[in-house]
Amino acid sequence: MARDILLEMKGIVKNFPGVRALKGVDFSVARGEVHALMGENGAGKSTLIKALTGIYTKDEGTIRFDGREINPRSTLEAQKEGISTIYQELNLSPFQTVYENMFLGREPRNSFGMVDRKTMIQESLRILGELGIHVDVTKPLLSYGTAVQQMVAIARAVSVDAKLVIMDEPTSSLDTKEVEVLFGVIRKLKAKGIAVIFISHRLDEIFEICEHVTILKDGALAGEMRVADIDQLQLISYMIGGEAKQLERTKGDYELQSAPEVARMTDIQQGMRLNGIGIDIKKGEVLGLAGLLGSGRSELAKVLFGAMQPDEGEVFWMDKQVHFKSPKDSIDLGIGFCTEDRKVEGIIPHLSVKENMTIALLPQISKMGVVSSKQQNKIVEEYIDRLKIKTPSPNQAIRNLSGGNQQKVLLARWLCMNPKLVIMDEPTRGIDVGAKAEIEALIQELAGQGISVLMISSELAELERNCDRVVVMREGRNLGELCGLEINQDAIMSIIASAGGELEKGGRLQ
Ligand SMILES: Nc1ncnc2c1ncn2[C@@H]1O[C@H](COP(=O)(O)OP(=O)(O)OP(=O)(O)O)[C@@H](O)[C@H]1O
Ligand SMILES: [Mg+2]
Repeated sequence: MARDILLEMKGIVKNFPGVRALKGVDFSVARGEVHALMGENGAGKSTLIKALTGIYTKDEGTIRFDGREINPRSTLEAQKEGISTIYQELNLSPFQTVYENMFLGREPRNSFGMVDRKTMIQESLRILGELGIHVDVTKPLLSYGTAVQQMVAIARAVSVDAKLVIMDEPTSSLDTKEVEVLFGVIRKLKAKGIAVIFISHRLDEIFEICEHVTILKDGALAGEMRVADIDQLQLISYMIGGEAKQLERTKGDYELQSAPEVARMTDIQQGMRLNGIGIDIKKGEVLGLAGLLGSGRSELAKVLFGAMQPDEGEVFWMDKQVHFKSPKDSIDLGIGFCTEDRKVEGIIPHLSVKENMTIALLPQISKMGVVSSKQQNKIVEEYIDRLKIKTPSPNQAIRNLSGGNQQKVLLARWLCMNPKLVIMDEPTRGIDVGAKAEIEALIQELAGQGISVLMISSELAELERNCDRVVVMREGRNLGELCGLEINQDAIMSIIASAGGELEKGGRLQ
């Protein structure tokens, strides 16, 4: 059956200073189709979407949508054409309420021309409720975590009357259950004849929900096919332009019984989120924290880093009790922390790659307040090379890097400090398969050098491949531990499930 083409982009070119981001890309999507857009970090996926929706002006090329040529100059104009987009960096307004965010730029008015708040509140509750999200819509958006914010963005995008809904990495901050909710939404859209462009680095998602895939490589088209016609390794080969290797498990039997302990936390209580949990981390160990969103993993990490003070409980570092008042105290002892929320707690957008990477290191490489730029440059070049960070120069403002490359700069920030323990909260979020293999290899290399890693990940396969031991958390408690070869996805899931059925709806999201 011939595809009924809804969107046809032809010969799209986009240049940035020093970067040819799109080199004449053709891309088409049929009505009612779920179409994956794939490619390595920096391949040009987000740029193609932004050229379509008017955030960037394309240098060359044409766009036909629903039978005629269009040239939207803003997201709002694109929306009027029937294209609704969730961008990779959420363009929500954190200080406004949830319901205001749902209606940003299209607030309903009453007959006096006033913004109709009552309707906004009712409609927001209804639309979010349909997605299984139960939150207080009159609270500011920032009172909720990234997952809820992501769901609000999704709800907003699907609530407008659209023919095409674009999702640029919608699942990167969602856990397995929420991804299922989102997939339910996508299936509903499809049933209504609405097309979806779906961007994700998680291959299993592509195979579950998409029927067509377009692959970009270095700003050019590398392939276009039906998902049913390829397998995961072939897809990766198209993305990296060479033979793909499956990611492999790096750990065998648990061998660290006698290794010295680096850090220990006992009976930690913190607000509503941590309820008496304790963990210990050994030298050279990769310790994983598993659990659904809201299980307290990030909070536990923040307590260890000194970014949050426990109400009760003790923290030990090298067998001595410590009271970290702020991250400065823990950094001084050799702890690094790669945050999960790169936008809020991580990058400083207007500063360069170089500055973002070395910001925590500066005190170490300066003498009387003067930074040794020679040393700084050497370190920066080393990590750009090691993590294959795609940037025209170390002086590029970090906000101009693709999402995955920003994440690599953040990792480098802590790795270049020669830490004794690195906490990594979702370290491979938004990172492409090739880079993921490199980052995982790097984690093992660190462990081999005796550096301990505390790794939080929603991707259970990632924990299975990399961890010596996994602590499964729920509601701020330790539900159980798995060591060495015991660690696998099913074992983790069954520990979570055994702790008593469904979690309260919505509660887990906050
Ligand atoms: N505003 C900008 N200024 C300069 N360069 C940019 C800008 N936006 C994107 N680029 C560059 O264009 C290229 C493509 O970036 P893009 O964000 O489209 O990648 P992506 O495929 O979405 O990657 P990721 O998977 O990491 O999100 C990258 O080299 C990026 O650095
Ligand atoms: Mg992107």
